[in-house]
Amino acid sequence: MNVCVIGLGYVGLPFCIAFSKRHTVFGFDISEERVSQLSEGTSYVEDISDPELKEVLGKTFFPTNDPEKIEKSEFIVICVPTPIDEKKCPDLSYVESACETVRAHLRKGQIVILESTTYPGTSEEVMIPILEKSGLKAGVDFGVAFSPERIDPGNPDYKLENTPKVIGALTEKDLKRTTDLYSTVIKEIVPVRNLKTAEASKILENVFRAANIALINEISLIFESMGINVWEVIEAASSKKPSSFMPHYPGIGVGGHCIPVDPYYLSWKAKKVGHFAKFIELSGEINDYMSMHTFYMILNALKGRRKVEEAKVAVFGVAYKKNISDVRESPALRLIELLEEYRMNVVFHDPYVKEIRTRHGVMKGLSLDDAAGNADCVVFAVDHSVFKDIDLDHLKEIMRTSIIVDGKNVLDRPEGFHYYGIGKVNI
Ligand SMILES: NC(=O)c1ccc[n+]([C@@H]2O[C@H](COP(=O)([O-])OP(=O)(O)OC[C@H]3O[C@@H](n4cnc5c(N)ncnc54)[C@H](O)[C@@H]3O)[C@@H](O)[C@H]2O)c1
Repeated sequence: MNVCVIGLGYVGLPFCIAFSKRHTVFGFDISEERVSQLSEGTSYVEDISDPELKEVLGKTFFPTNDPEKIEKSEFIVICVPTPIDEKKCPDLSYVESACETVRAHLRKGQIVILESTTYPGTSEEVMIPILEKSGLKAGVDFGVAFSPERIDPGNPDYKLENTPKVIGALTEKDLKRTTDLYSTVIKEIVPVRNLKTAEASKILENVFRAANIALINEISLIFESMGINVWEVIEAASSKKPSSFMPHYPGIGVGGHCIPVDPYYLSWKAKKVGHFAKFIELSGEINDYMSMHTFYMILNALKGRRKVEEAKVAVFGVAYKKNISDVRESPALRLIELLEEYRMNVVFHDPYVKEIRTRHGVMKGLSLDDAAGNADCVVFAVDHSVFKDIDLDHLKEIMRTSIIVDGKNVLDRPEGFHYYGIGKVNI
């Protein structure tokens, strides 16, 4: 088969590489920089190595800025971003513009599959009307399917091939054709009743995660005040097998393109049908509050030890989760902005991230020694595995004041430090 993937990001690129082992894949992106990087054999997504890319590049995988390749493909798979705007409302402009591009090159017999996470109803209410402006009829002249991407970046155990793939389609025929294609690459297919069910399944997953993380964040705030270590509580509660308890962990907030964003797609849509999604909105509020709580923890730790405006704070880890470089919606950025607003000298160290952009401008990452040297407080904002191996004697030696604020249970109350942690007993 010829497959054209629209959008070569964290979702689209791994899809291209997996499918090009069995099919011919054109990867279309509007970014010339991304296409030229890929054409040179350089991957910008951690889960895809350069040798993996080079193995298929120019043979069965063709990155391109030319939308005409859409015409050459039986299947068109859209993997473009679905962010929210400043009012936390869905921004479907990327999906709409990708659909416009597809519409201009649509021909009979093709199947268009949306993989971007979005609210139930998007395929029928947004995608199909745009595609039908071509004069072709959905379900008759061309097929439509929705298959949410469920990859977990940075997870070495679960890749596209071994993550069950949910598919919903407009007609039985579209479902069968999409299932036939996907099952050449993916081990387990989960066909569902229709497009809306498939769209809703992915939103449910992310709402579930956001709400559970918010619950444990709230519990950690309560237990902190009660002098109970929430990390030990979670371990104990997880020990009963089988158990209905599913461990989730607190932190300085939630980040990434999914958990802090997707639930608002549903709450926005819920309002349209007369429901105020209390759980979703509350979860967002609690998760957002955690960076402020961490900020207060830092102020409290500095109290009596160093004047705030003279303090140097080194944030360790600015990615939104461990062992990856993605900083989108990272709560560490919100924390850094808060620290900057208090005129503290803020620096960061992250082995995966070279540079970040906050409301106050661009900040370059420093080496561990440059970041922690003469610092009054080191904040672990994320639990990159390498942080577990930091030489604490050396760290203590180079810091001016030995305060650690631990947002992710990286350390177990180290000797010789003033140690504060999210969800810990802070004395
Ligand atoms: N990143 C994840 O972990 C993850 C996991 C599951 C689902 N998703 C969902 O998948 C979708 C894509 O996310 P992502 O993380 O891959 O985004 P991304 O920002 O990494 O990549 C999107 C790509 O689409 C390109 N693009 C934007 N508009 C385009 C257009 N009109 N035509 C062609 N290319 C266009 C961009 O240049 C970019 O390369 C989102 O809906 C997201 O919610 C993401």
